Amino acid sequence: MELIFCKWVSVFLFSCWLIFSVGHSVEGLHGNSRVRAVNLGGWLVVEGWIKPSLFEDIPNGDMLDGTQVQLKSVTLHKYISAQNGGGMNVSVDRDNPLEWETFKLWRVSESVFQFRTAQGQFLTCSGDGDTVFATAESPSDSETFYLERNFNNRIHIKLKNGTYIQASNDSVLTADFPGTPGWDDNPATFEMVIVGKLQGDYQLANGYGHDKAKAVLKKHRNSFITVDDFDFLYRHGINTVRIPVGWWIASDANPPAPFIGGSLEALDNAFSWAQAYNIKCIIDLHAAPGSQNGMEHSASKDGTVNWQKSPEHISQTLDAIEFLASRYAVHPALLGIELLNEPAAANVSLDILVPFYKQGYKIVRKYSSTAYVIFCQRIGDADPSELYQANLSSLNTVVDLHYYNLFNRYFDNLTSLANIQFINIVRQPQIQALNSANGPLVFVGEWVNEWNVTNGSLADYQDFGRVQLDVYNAASFGWSYWTLKCEKKHWDFEWSVRNNYLQLQSGMYVSNSPRKRISRVILLLGLACIWTFLH
Ligand SMILES: *[C@@H]1O[C@H](CO)[C@@H](O)[C@H](O)[C@H]1NC(C)=O
Ligand SMILES: *[C@@H]1O[C@H](CO)[C@@H](O)[C@H](O)[C@H]1NC(C)=O
Ligand SMILES: *[C@@H]1O[C@H](CO)[C@@H](O)[C@H](O)[C@H]1NC(C)=O
Ligand SMILES: *[C@@H]1O[C@H](CO)[C@@H](O)[C@H](O)[C@H]1NC(C)=O
Ligand SMILES: *[C@@H]1O[C@H](CO)[C@@H](O)[C@H](O)[C@H]1NC(C)=O
Ligand SMILES: *[C@@H]1O[C@H](CO)[C@@H](O)[C@H](O)[C@H]1NC(C)=O
Ligand SMILES: *[C@@H]1O[C@H](CO)[C@@H](O)[C@H](O)[C@H]1NC(C)=O
Ligand SMILES: *[C@@H]1O[C@H](CO)[C@@H](O)[C@H](O)[C@H]1NC(C)=O
Repeated sequence: MELIFCKWVSVFLFSCWLIFSVGHSVEGLHGNSRVRAVNLGGWLVVEGWIKPSLFEDIPNGDMLDGTQVQLKSVTLHKYISAQNGGGMNVSVDRDNPLEWETFKLWRVSESVFQFRTAQGQFLTCSGDGDTVFATAESPSDSETFYLERNFNNRIHIKLKNGTYIQASNDSVLTADFPGTPGWDDNPATFEMVIVGKLQGDYQLANGYGHDKAKAVLKKHRNSFITVDDFDFLYRHGINTVRIPVGWWIASDANPPAPFIGGSLEALDNAFSWAQAYNIKCIIDLHAAPGSQNGMEHSASKDGTVNWQKSPEHISQTLDAIEFLASRYAVHPALLGIELLNEPAAANVSLDILVPFYKQGYKIVRKYSSTAYVIFCQRIGDADPSELYQANLSSLNTVVDLHYYNLFNRYFDNLTSLANIQFINIVRQPQIQALNSANGPLVFVGEWVNEWNVTNGSLADYQDFGRVQLDVYNAASFGWSYWTLKCEKKHWDFEWSVRNNYLQLQSGMYVSNSPRKRISRVILLLGLACIWTFLH
C-alpha cells in the first residue's frame, strides 16, 4: 500500500517537474533553452548610423528625403516661416526657428526639391511674380523648386523657368528677383541650416537613383553579414537571429519605387547559414508601408507616420506577412515571425493595432501551427501590459519589449550605478510581472550594452552587460541583442564580445525564476519520497 502510494506520488511529482522545468523552454530550440539572439540590424533594412559609408557617394548627400532645413534671409536676418505650421501664407519674419520654420525636403534630384511644412502642406508658387504660400496638399510642378548651393550653405531658390525667389522688404517670398543673384548679401540668398536627417532605404535609393542604389545595396547585402558571422554566433552560444526586413521584400523582383529588390535572396541565404549552424531565425517586419513610427528604420520618407491612416497600408502589411509565412513556414530554421516592429504609441492606436495583430496571427497559423507569432510593444508612452489585456492568442505567441537606457531624457545624466539599478528596480519586476501574466511569452527583442554615461570604464560596461543578461535571461521567451555589427562600437555585438565589454558567460547562469525554484522543490520532494521508500 505504502509502496504503491509512494510510486504514484513519485510519478505525479515527476510529471509536475517535467511541466515546470521543460514546459518553460521555447519549442524548436535545442535542450531546455530560451532564445539568446542577436539582431541583424542595418542589413536588409538600412540605417545610416549603423553603416554611414553606404551614403557617402550620394551627390548633395546631406539633402535627402526627410532632411529638415531652416532658411534664413541674409538681408532681413529672419527665418522663413509657414504660418500655423502650414496651410496658410508664408512670411520671412522669425528670429528663432522652431517647428513652423522647419521644412522637410522631398528630393526630386540632387538639385530639385519640394518643401513640406510641419502640418504636411508644400510650399507653392504658381509662377513668375507670384507669392509663395504653404497651401498645397500634394506636390507637382508649382511645388517644385530648383536649388543652387554655395560651399558655405548659402542657397538660391528658383522656379523651373529660371526666376529666383526673393525675400521682399514686407516679409513675403516672391518669385520676382531681377536677373541672377550672386553669393553676396542679396534678397535671393538664404542661409540653410540642416537640423534633422533620415538615412534609411528610401533616402538611399532615391538619393542614388535606381541603378546606382541597386549596385550599392547588392554589395552591402552580400558583404555586411556573411556565413562567417553565423560561425561567430554559434561559437558564442547564440541560438537565434532576429532579422529585420522591409515590406517591399514581398514584391522582391519588382518592388515599388524607390525600393530595391534583392533582399529576399539575402534572407534565403541567412536561413541556409542559420540551418547549417543550428541557429533559428525570427523574421521581423521592421518597415511597414507608410511607416509605423516615422523613423529611418521604418523606411519613412520624411518622418511622418502614415501606416495607420490607410486600410491599404494595413492590408499590404498583411500581404507581406502572408508572403513571408508561406515562404518560410516549412523551413526548419524558422522560429517565429514578428508582425510589426515598434509602432508609435502617439500615432498607432490599439483600436487599429490589435485587430491587425489578430489578423496577422491567423495568417501565420494558416501556414504553421508552431511558428511563434511575435507582437511588438508600442514605443513611446505605452505600457506593454496593454498587449496582455488585449486577449491576443496565447498559443506560441510572444510580446516583444525593447529595453534601452537611452532615447529618453530620464537617462541623460544617470551614473553607471544608477543605470545598473534601473535594470534591477524597473526592468526586472516588469519582466517578472509579464512572465506570470496569462498570455504570450516575454521577449526582450532589442537591448544593447550602451548607455548615456560618458567614458564608462571596461569594468563599468562589464557590470552593465552582466546585470542586463541576468535580468533578461529570466524573460520567458528570451532576448536579442541590438545589433550584430555597427559603426558605433558599443552597439556592435561582435566588437563588444571580442573586446570583452560584453561577457556572455554570465548569460549562461541558470536563472532563478520562481518556476525554476518550484521545479527544484518538486524534484527534491520526489527524491525524498523515493529515498523514504527505499529505506
Ligand atoms: C499671413 O496671414 C496672416 C493671417 O491672415 C496675416 O496676419 C499676416 O500679416 C500674413 N503675413 C504675410 C507676411 O502676409
Ligand atoms: C518665366 O516665364 C514667365 C512667363 O510665364 C516670363 O514672363 C518670364 O520672363 C520667364 N522668366 C525667365 C527667367 O525666363
Ligand atoms: C529692400 O530695401 C532695401 C533698403 O531700402 C533696398 O535696397 C532693397 O532693394 C529692397 N529690397 C526689395 C526686395 O524690395
Ligand atoms: C504622430 O504623433 C505625434 C505626437 O502626437 C504628432 O505630433 C504627429 O503629428 C503624429 N503624426 C502623424 C502623421 O499622425
Ligand atoms: C479580454 O478578456 C477578458 C476576460 O474574458 C474580458 O473581461 C476583457 O474585456 C477582454 N478584453 C478585450 C480588450 O477584449
Ligand atoms: C544623451 O544625453 C544627452 C544630454 O546629456 C542628450 O542630448 C542625448 O540625446 C542623449 N542621447 C541619447 C541617445 O539618449
Ligand atoms: C543633463 O546634463 C546636461 C549638462 O549638464 C544639462 O544641460 C541637462 O539639462 C541635463 N538633463 C537632464 C534631463 O537633467
Ligand atoms: C572622456 O574621454 C575623452 C578622451 O579620453 C576626454 O577628452 C573627455 O574629456 C572625457 N570626458 C569626460 C566627461 O570625462
